[in-house]
Amino acid sequence: MTAIADLAADLSAARFTVDALGELWGEDAAAALHRGQRVPALRALSAVELVEAPPLATLARAFVLGLPVVPSALAAALPVLGFEGAVALGLVDEAGAPLLDLRPYSFVDGSGVVSWWIASDLGELALGHAIPEQHVLGVGGASTTLSGLMVSRPVELALDLGTGCGIQALHAARHAKRVIATDISERALELARFNAELNGVANIEFRLGSLFEPVPERFGHVVSNPPFVITPRSAEGVPAYEYRDGGMVGDALVASVIKDVEAHLEPGGVAQLLGNWEYGSQDGLARVEQWVRFTGLDAWVVERERQDVEQYAETWIRDGGTRSGAEFDRLYGAWLDDFAARGVTHVGFGYVTLRRPVTGAPTLRRFEVLDGPIAGAPDVSALLTAHDWLRDRDLLAESLTVAPDVTEQRHYWPGDEHPTVMDLRQGSGFARTVPLGTALAAVVGACDGSLPLGAICDAVAQLLEVDAAELTAEVLPQVRELVLTGLLLP
Ligand SMILES: C[S@@+](CC[C@H](N)C(=O)[O-])C[C@H]1O[C@@H](n2cnc3c(N)ncnc32)[C@H](O)[C@@H]1O
Repeated sequence: MTAIADLAADLSAARFTVDALGELWGEDAAAALHRGQRVPALRALSAVELVEAPPLATLARAFVLGLPVVPSALAAALPVLGFEGAVALGLVDEAGAPLLDLRPYSFVDGSGVVSWWIASDLGELALGHAIPEQHVLGVGGASTTLSGLMVSRPVELALDLGTGCGIQALHAARHAKRVIATDISERALELARFNAELNGVANIEFRLGSLFEPVPERFGHVVSNPPFVITPRSAEGVPAYEYRDGGMVGDALVASVIKDVEAHLEPGGVAQLLGNWEYGSQDGLARVEQWVRFTGLDAWVVERERQDVEQYAETWIRDGGTRSGAEFDRLYGAWLDDFAARGVTHVGFGYVTLRRPVTGAPTLRRFEVLDGPIAGAPDVSALLTAHDWLRDRDLLAESLTVAPDVTEQRHYWPGDEHPTVMDLRQGSGFARTVPLGTALAAVVGACDGSLPLGAICDAVAQLLEVDAAELTAEVLPQVRELVLTGLLLP
């Protein structure tokens, strides 16, 4: 057995899992940890350790909270690997101080609950100071957003561009026969390799290099949570964090990934990335549309959030560990100067899905703002499938049903018999709300799969005493949109 396999055996035996840690320190401490505060978790651990020091508590103290542990306690928590083995693997130093963050990660997919362990660099909390520019990020909010959106269609070869700790590559390795994971950081690749071995995933190849430079191949799936954070380039002394800053001006890195990915997609291949885009004299989503316009790719772009440049600068200066004082003010000024030089007022953040058509020209170009709360991970492949199903289809001949997560809401003036406002609500994914006119409400209400849409439109027109052709012309594009967005199902 290798040392990494020994470590896996120990972590497994200690039940080093998300659920077990939750039980150990409770929901509120877990939530505090999520906010970057470890005191509640530490108090819970100390209470447990008064009685005994179970391996789980020792592992949590060292690798999740980033606190030193006595070598004998770590040796007891890792009986197969041993303390010396942990030192040799670079998990702790000779005195028992942690050198890596290592924590359980779990998710649910088609095959049930999956549990992994993910190693990354120690964060600010453990270090006690700002992270260095070469920091390798653990699994963060953006990571889980992208992995949750992943289209899991089986493919031969997938690419994770900018793999960091390897989390997207590990996810992609579940539906791709082989994955290539790239990064400009040797250390990131080392940690990603470690994580793949620790979790018994053998179908990932790791390559050093920038953007698409190390990959001449074409892929069935490209995923990337790229270093998209807009960072001032001309000011002195602005930290350039490898994990978030691709070294280009403004949003040029995202533009370049969108432009270059086409040459690396197989026909039918899908690319999914997260990104930022700038708003200035031009609307930000129109800017993304322009990047996509000269590609031959289908595109669906969702803007989830828009910040003014002040909020944006504050977010990313704080993320680097500078919270206030003269240095904060200096960096804030540099960010605002940089945005002002390009006339940028806001920055959009969102999800980009691109697909190379199997043949011919692109047929999907959809750019939308969906900035409300979501109800679970949106189903990207469902929209692509619905788009393909709708193409060249005589929808009037189809019998549709209302999706099981959809409800109708009606609002009345007090005492009124008829509603003043009606809408459809989606109970999952983007949780879309669609306003309903009288005709559309009646048509959707009759979509129980038994009658073709054309017959429903005729019947509703008769009921409302309006012209059937006019009602059909009004309702048809609305129904098409409901099918595309998953509120009505074929
Ligand atoms: C935001 S992190 C994403 C890490 C991981 N994929 C995730 O989803 O959590 C971006 C990664 O891109 C890498 N990176 C930065 N510049 C790059 C470049 N020019 N080409 C490839 N990777 C790059 C960074 O080292 C970092 O690991």
